[in-house]
Amino acid sequence: MKIIVTGGAGFIGSNFIKMILADCSNIQKIVNLDLLTYAGNLANLKDVESDSRYHFIKGDITDYDTVEKIVSADKFDLIVNFAAESHVDRSIYDSRVFVHTNILGTQVLLDAAKRNKVNRFCQVSTDEVYGSLTDKEPSFTEDNPITPSSPYSASKAGADHLCLSYYHTHKLDVVITRCSNNYGPYQFPEKFIPLFISNAMDEKKLPLYGDGKNIRDWIHVLDHAAGVWSACINGKAGEVYNFGGGNEYGNIEIANKIVDILGKDNSLIELVRDRPGHDWRYAMDYTKATSELGWIPKFNFESGLKDTIEWYQENRAWWEEIKSGDYLNYYEKHYGK
Ligand code: NAD
Ligand code: TYD
Repeated sequence: MKIIVTGGAGFIGSNFIKMILADCSNIQKIVNLDLLTYAGNLANLKDVESDSRYHFIKGDITDYDTVEKIVSADKFDLIVNFAAESHVDRSIYDSRVFVHTNILGTQVLLDAAKRNKVNRFCQVSTDEVYGSLTDKEPSFTEDNPITPSSPYSASKAGADHLCLSYYHTHKLDVVITRCSNNYGPYQFPEKFIPLFISNAMDEKKLPLYGDGKNIRDWIHVLDHAAGVWSACINGKAGEVYNFGGGNEYGNIEIANKIVDILGKDNSLIELVRDRPGHDWRYAMDYTKATSELGWIPKFNFESGLKDTIEWYQENRAWWEEIKSGDYLNYYEKHYGK
């Protein structure tokens, strides 16, 4: 198989590339197209950079000529689109690049896939397109209405609609995956779990939004990567597949687990002003992925979190370099406490 992966230098894309190169014997070529924005990091891929099947191209998915040149250069079986602006707090501060990358970038890729007759297009989307759940509502299924509430999730929802429109109008073979919150190695430390781990390791405050009781459904990144691959291989054209970890926790519970595992004091946890429009709860019903793709999450959350914390302990240089940049405390910097 010949595959184009976009956004492969980010958290999930890099885990995905390493996983399929290690586990799938039929991979002839992977082209990783990534702009290396603040979130892209080639250090995430050092294990595979000498693999002759792997090729990196620095480029922008919104750039028509770049994308056309890459897609027309070979007969590709699959494009998997991970490239995106991915942080809700940043989308609240300035949504322009979210609309540009997440919507226009997806459209440019879809057009190139159509023109060049790529066999399949997989759009990596998110549970956040469904909006927010109350405590009593059942988990999201693929039939839930799309009611995104942040500029990030609205831009991802726009991209999902475009993908389905190319399926219906142009008969392009498209599958969409929607996944809950990921955790694991190589996650950029502006996101909740790696921010709290790395801050706690340095005895810095852990800024918990609102009352800390918002709920997320946590999934290990390798379970997500396996889900995306199963949708690419066994998914049906025009279909959406939900993936989740079945691990619903309030943010404060996660914060407490992190300080406990690290042996720190929970006085590090500090309640701060809430994120505007903060979605209350996400939870995924992944029955369809199990019955149609044979996928189930394999990671146990307690051990997965411990291993992730160990990874951040063993890879201090990786996140220290990132944190020395101007990337962190984004919310606090722009909204105050
Ligand atoms: P990330 O921010 O870690 O990585 C995004 C990658 O995209 C980076 O390598 C960046 O350089 C690249 N990129 C950004 N703009 C680009 C452009 N214009 N052209 C080419 N490359 C560009 O994100 P992530 O957490 O790995 O998420 C990957 C995908 O999965 C996103 O589409 C996101 O919406 C989706 N997703 C993420 C989660 C999660 O919990 N992180 C959950 C569900 C879905
Ligand atoms: P995040 O990792 O930004 O993912 P998302 O908003 O896409 O779910 O945040 C996960 C949860 O953690 C969310 O409810 C917001 C909360 N959060 C904090 O309380 N403090 C923080 O510093 C961050 C980054 C997130």
